[in-house]
Amino acid sequence: MSEWLFAKGRQAMKIAFVGDVHGCVLHALGAAVLLQDRRGIRLDAVIQVGDLGAYPSAERFDESSRRFGRDHPAQGDFFRLLDPSPSFAEGVRLALGKIPSVLFVSGNHEDHDWLASLHEAAGAEVVPVDPLGAYRHVACGNVVEVAGQRVAFLGLIEVPGKMDLDESAYARLTAVEPGGVDILVTHDGPYGMSRDRRGNVQGSPKLTRLIEHLRPRLHVSGHYHHPNGPRRYGRTTSYALAQLVRPKITRWEPEPVNPGQRVTAGSIGLLDTETGGFEYIEDEWLADVKGDALDLAGLIATTR
Ligand SMILES: [Fe+2]
Repeated sequence: MSEWLFAKGRQAMKIAFVGDVHGCVLHALGAAVLLQDRRGIRLDAVIQVGDLGAYPSAERFDESSRRFGRDHPAQGDFFRLLDPSPSFAEGVRLALGKIPSVLFVSGNHEDHDWLASLHEAAGAEVVPVDPLGAYRHVACGNVVEVAGQRVAFLGLIEVPGKMDLDESAYARLTAVEPGGVDILVTHDGPYGMSRDRRGNVQGSPKLTRLIEHLRPRLHVSGHYHHPNGPRRYGRTTSYALAQLVRPKITRWEPEPVNPGQRVTAGSIGLLDTETGGFEYIEDEWLADVKGDALDLAGLIATTR
């Protein structure tokens, strides 16, 4: 029995973590359903690391979301989730009959005002954002009990301007005692985790300080769209996830990278809370979750 379980005296659970979704909300549900089915496991929670692409309408898209959305129809699935057709709703309901709803933190590409208004209206730190309750947003700076783990959520990124880390949310988490959370979920990553194509260092010094203060067993992030980790910060192991569905083409790669809009290896992580083990999912069946118009009900029909 691991020290982690022994120390907490908690039941072993499995939590899936999902990288940047950018509107492809059916791909995320489909990948989680297949993860359970193909591995023969039961997921106790699904957590998404931000850039879900939570905008109430395409008019509210920011500039880069609009640009990508034009060539990637599946990035509009979030809007279809808000006002689902009967067949769309049927696929989502079938998925939710098999997996838990998805908790997500804010990325830099969401409608933050809209999300704040949902929290205000509900008077709650965790709110469903769609009528079927498939996705639930966790406001920055909160610690939520998820699958027996104390999970801290801090979205956005360290950058001057409106996408910057929320100062009061950051302060609330720095006020939590060291060891007071088991898992830290952020959108940005720790400083120095990688470099961009121009050689600039990526990551947030403030998040590194938060990890070193909180000392969670696990830290999971997104934002940079490629897997990174394990990285160790004292007793914390930190991982970053790939983008769930990579773009069809990029300006850096001569060949199309994902014309079939398939789920990317390394975009999903799986935690076993008993062993503390974290694994990137790179199985071939991930690529079965695909397309500009994913048939979620059809995909679920292939499961046991
Ligand atoms: Fe992103």
